[in-house]
Amino acid sequence: MKLRTTVFALLIVFFSYSQQNTIAFAKSNDTTVISKHIYGHFAEHLGRCIYDGFYVGEDNTTIPNTNGVRNDIINALKALNIPNLRWPGGCFADTYHWKDGIGPKENRPAIVNTWWGNVTEDNSFGTHDFLNLCEVLNTEPYISGNVGSGSVQELADWVQYVNFEGKSPMSDLRRQNGREKPWKVKFWGVGNEAWGCGGNMRPEYYVDVYRKYATFMSGVGVEGGLDKIASGASDADYRWTETLMRDIPHNLLQGVALHHYSVIDWGSKGSSTEFKEDQYFKTMQRSWKMEELIQKHTEIMDKYDPERKVDLVVDEWGGWYDVMQGTNPGFLYQQNTMRDAMIAGMNLNIFNNHAQRVKMANLAQTVNVLQAVILTEGKKMILTPTYHVMEMYKIHQDAVLVPLQLKTDNYEYKGEYLPAISASASIDKEGVTHISLVNIDLHDSKNITVSLDKVYKSVSGRILKSAKVQDYNSFGDPEKIKPTDFKGAVLKKDGIKIEVPPFSVVVLALK
Ligand code: AHR
Repeated sequence: MKLRTTVFALLIVFFSYSQQNTIAFAKSNDTTVISKHIYGHFAEHLGRCIYDGFYVGEDNTTIPNTNGVRNDIINALKALNIPNLRWPGGCFADTYHWKDGIGPKENRPAIVNTWWGNVTEDNSFGTHDFLNLCEVLNTEPYISGNVGSGSVQELADWVQYVNFEGKSPMSDLRRQNGREKPWKVKFWGVGNEAWGCGGNMRPEYYVDVYRKYATFMSGVGVEGGLDKIASGASDADYRWTETLMRDIPHNLLQGVALHHYSVIDWGSKGSSTEFKEDQYFKTMQRSWKMEELIQKHTEIMDKYDPERKVDLVVDEWGGWYDVMQGTNPGFLYQQNTMRDAMIAGMNLNIFNNHAQRVKMANLAQTVNVLQAVILTEGKKMILTPTYHVMEMYKIHQDAVLVPLQLKTDNYEYKGEYLPAISASASIDKEGVTHISLVNIDLHDSKNITVSLDKVYKSVSGRILKSAKVQDYNSFGDPEKIKPTDFKGAVLKKDGIKIEVPPFSVVVLALK
């Protein structure tokens, strides 16, 4: 532990002595693609994410919907090109019995959501509803299987129900329920947080459970087979990753998950809108922690899988604060400010830069829960600053990573330091180079010089900023924060000079 602190401190010293902010494109023959799946989302049966969020019911005549799912949400998510959607949890997944969510809705048994507010759900949003929604969104489903309280047979049946083309007990049942063709779901989580809400298992025990479940999950009918993703470590639980990578045969393992939330203190998370610099700085420290976590989990994975066949899947990340006053504590409803835009921009830059190993990530969560991209209230819907960051960054999806050498000033607060700038870059299919930049410093603009690798004709950009870091979009003022044209980048012969304002996110296009 001591050694780790020293290494981190040395890094900070390096940053603190760098007087100038510079970016250079690192020379490299690497053609790593930033998987679009890094831009994934997460919809759990939690609070108002599914019920009274996505799903308002087929009978709803006041909110326009498609098969019960709000059209405004569908359109907003389509505009993000969301590549995948994780469902039904989270902790809920290990309590969920999928057969209760198929067939005529009036016959479905209820379920008590024991993790999230003990509310009774009527199971009206089930497998067909979710997978049909994914088709409408043109996104890949990522289903979390119930390992904690389910059985191997139940999960094997679910796979057969959604994926099997031929005649079988489960595919016949699917047909009976109105769906002829299988959906061909590729991404499957084998449990969730098995070290906690998924069963409080030790890694040695979970490894054997995983091996058994994965053995019976058939990949028939899915091109390349299933991507089975093991429930991964929380934060710095490196022993968890080490045990999984060592003891699960890699032919059964396509991904290992990691969960890390930018939370100040689990006992005292603070308000999502009313915070001072002290809390802001702590949130940024927790957010930068993602860099260290990915580096160290990757080191372990590299030891057992030097060819990088097993993906690191950060299937839960984002900011977590106290719930908004007057809302159900079990519903995790929070507002979303420019602080969250900083978390989003920084984490997405980190994932992009680790695209060799990080192939998938899921922001928690899509609608009305934690760091949501969308909030709803009755008929109204708003897009949060986090939504806008996701939209600005979508240009990185499936683009070729350009590794950067970045020298950045520090953001200093009361004798503690963090790198002020985070950045990542990629080249898209049309040959356009994009650079995304985040300045987390609350006080100072940062002048950055980008030295260029070739001649560009033009630079243009967009920026997300606001007067105060506590600003957010509300139902009364839904467009207070939205991207605007960025005029702070000047193309010169030898490079680009950029001025990035405090707590802002900038995305540049170089042509
Ligand atoms: O995203 C909210 C919860 O956080 C998820 O259900 C769980 O996996 C994690 O602890």
